[in-house]
Amino acid sequence: MADLLKLGVLISGNGSNLQSIIDHIERGSLKATIKIIISNNPDAFGITRAKKHGIPFVVLKNSDFTSKEEFDSELIKTLKDHGVDLVILAGFMRIISPAFLKAFPNKVMNIHPALLPSFPGLHGQRQAWEYGVKFSGCTVHFVDEGMDTGPIIIQRVVPVQDDDTEETLAARILTEEHKIYPQAIQLYADGKIEIKGRKVHIKN
Ligand code: GAR
Repeated sequence: MADLLKLGVLISGNGSNLQSIIDHIERGSLKATIKIIISNNPDAFGITRAKKHGIPFVVLKNSDFTSKEEFDSELIKTLKDHGVDLVILAGFMRIISPAFLKAFPNKVMNIHPALLPSFPGLHGQRQAWEYGVKFSGCTVHFVDEGMDTGPIIIQRVVPVQDDDTEETLAARILTEEHKIYPQAIQLYADGKIEIKGRKVHIKN
């Protein structure tokens, strides 16, 4: 049997996408293994999830580092030490540096709660709701040096209803996030993802 894809998952908060990835792995619908979970927030609920499932985790507090470069080099070292093949940003609220991307070229995925390129940055759900779009959704993409600008792997459309609040829309989007992130990782594990320029082709 081929080696399982080794994941490093970066979180800052609740970690519900992390939970979805763990659940898919435990169910056998995602052929991968999480080697390390890294949180930049010591109070992230995702750490409780890591402990519950016996997955190694590390906390790297922003304030323990004097510069972004120092933080990122520790991040790179931790991921390399754990033999990580693919880095998964799951609600990780920090900009990734060029040095980090150089260490993991085309090997960093992110999930964003909007249909990119609309509503990048923080609070994608709120931006869409305030704008008054009729459809929003979520996007899994590779990370490049821009803000949520990298090649798109999977998107899922979510309708916005007249009586939605920001919270009800965010919850409907999150349900879809939990489906498409494990799917995108499985496509990568299967070697089915091909990046051409800024386009992703799914083989077969
Ligand atoms: C998710 O909605 C994710 O799309 C978003 O943060 C949330 C994390 O939730 N990410 C971004 O906005 C990145 N720009 P989780 O911690 O429960 O997975």
